[in-house]
Amino acid sequence: MSALDGKRILVSAGPTFEDIDPVRFIGNRSSGRMGFAIAEAAIARGAQVVLVAGPVHLATPTGAQRIDVRSAAQMHDAVLSALPADIYIGTAAVADFTPRAVAGHKLKKVPGQDTLVLELVKTADILADVATATQRPRLVVGFAAETNDVETYARGKLAAKRIDMIAANRVGIAGCGFESDDNTLDVIWADGQRRLGPESKRVVAEGLLDLIEERISIA
Ligand code: C5P
Repeated sequence: MSALDGKRILVSAGPTFEDIDPVRFIGNRSSGRMGFAIAEAAIARGAQVVLVAGPVHLATPTGAQRIDVRSAAQMHDAVLSALPADIYIGTAAVADFTPRAVAGHKLKKVPGQDTLVLELVKTADILADVATATQRPRLVVGFAAETNDVETYARGKLAAKRIDMIAANRVGIAGCGFESDDNTLDVIWADGQRRLGPESKRVVAEGLLDLIEERISIA
């Protein structure tokens, strides 16, 4: 039997969209496929999965409880309200900044004005808040999308966000990460690390769940 059987696993997936005005937003290239693959693989191991999804074009894995959100603030509320959970896996590409105010009308070009200054404010860090919540899951897993110095940044995040494991993927190279069917992850925890892939996101998801099972059994 899987160590995840009967466990409540909370997964966040996809991008967030931060509205600028009624027709425009700031988004990112996350497809949500990695998170959905993890949700599917966890359900197959008998877990009870709550999937908090940003705006994605993906079918709900059979058996998942899906909560759709749009913005980082909505994702923050949905994730924290879904606690307690045994495990949190934050795969979502959450916006780090959001417009200070959403314009009530479509922003217009002004004749003679060649620049537009948009003021952005920092969003709340969902992963860090889950890791320090009173109802902290036993295992908190984050993702890190990096273009360079993947391991250094990932180890930094592990400590800064007080999480147990981080799955770092290199973005910006062909055939990996965002918008791709395949992925390669460098999974890092306090006293170890393992590379998963390049493989399909489902195979990488199974490898990540194997590592999570190992950590859960030790903890
Ligand atoms: O620091 P960085 O944004 O690169 O960290 C990525 C990890 O943090 C991902 O697991 C992502 O889901 C999470 N995150 C979050 N809330 C934010 C920003 C990132 O949960 N506001």
